Amino acid sequence: MPSLEDIESAIRPSVGAFPRSALLCLENSHNNCGGSVITGAQTRAAAHLAHERGLKVHLDGARIFNAAAALGVDVKELTGPVDTVQFCFSKGLSAPVGSILCGPRDTVARARKVRKLLGGAMRQAGVIAAAALVGLETMRDRLVDDHVNARALADGLAAIRGIKIDAANVVTNIVSFEVERSAMDAGEFQKACAERGLRISRYLGNSPRLRMVTHANVGRADVDAALSIMSGILSAKPEPVTAR
Ligand SMILES: Cc1ncc(COP(=O)(O)O)c(C=O)c1O
Repeated sequence: MPSLEDIESAIRPSVGAFPRSALLCLENSHNNCGGSVITGAQTRAAAHLAHERGLKVHLDGARIFNAAAALGVDVKELTGPVDTVQFCFSKGLSAPVGSILCGPRDTVARARKVRKLLGGAMRQAGVIAAAALVGLETMRDRLVDDHVNARALADGLAAIRGIKIDAANVVTNIVSFEVERSAMDAGEFQKACAERGLRISRYLGNSPRLRMVTHANVGRADVDAALSIMSGILSAKPEPVTAR
């Protein structure tokens, strides 16, 4: 989470022909920051600053229920201070598809228009909404299980030689880690895992960072199986020969 000073200095005033800042976007939990969370107090402080400076605040809450579960708070604590929130019914809530925008009636009405303009409208959305409702009503309370499994995965990875991970920072269901270059190239590691039935995604581009996510269809036995595959690959790799 950037500091309030960083947010303040990034707000562009209305000067001449330059565009002014109009929106502060927060993301909770934060995908690229390994599923880290921001608290209600941090959200309130950032929103207060933005509102004072005339900006609206949007929360990208694709994984907001994971953040609430990790912090042990009602989701309203994290969404109350902002103007609009988007969250996904897929991901942890496990619906096959779907996202929602929540906010004031007039903003949502305008968003519907813009969605239509952009070709995003869907007439027969009821069947999708039904699965989304099941996710919302039945999957929230079990998200902590995903977090426990992610922590077990992170702790297991931390014990494998050749893996670099800040296991203490794993607080939700995303586990982000690196394979030390001296141990193996990340792409080669990814390929070796895939050959053994374990598909791991890589952050965009040529990033050395890999990403695993726990969810309702991944149990503790799967975590242990994944760890065994990964440690097997790295322990089979001969130690690099060092020049004498
Ligand atoms: C942080 C974040 N925001 C927004 C989205 C968009 O979700 P959707 O495609 O369901 O609208 C995603 C999807 O992966 C995401 O990870």
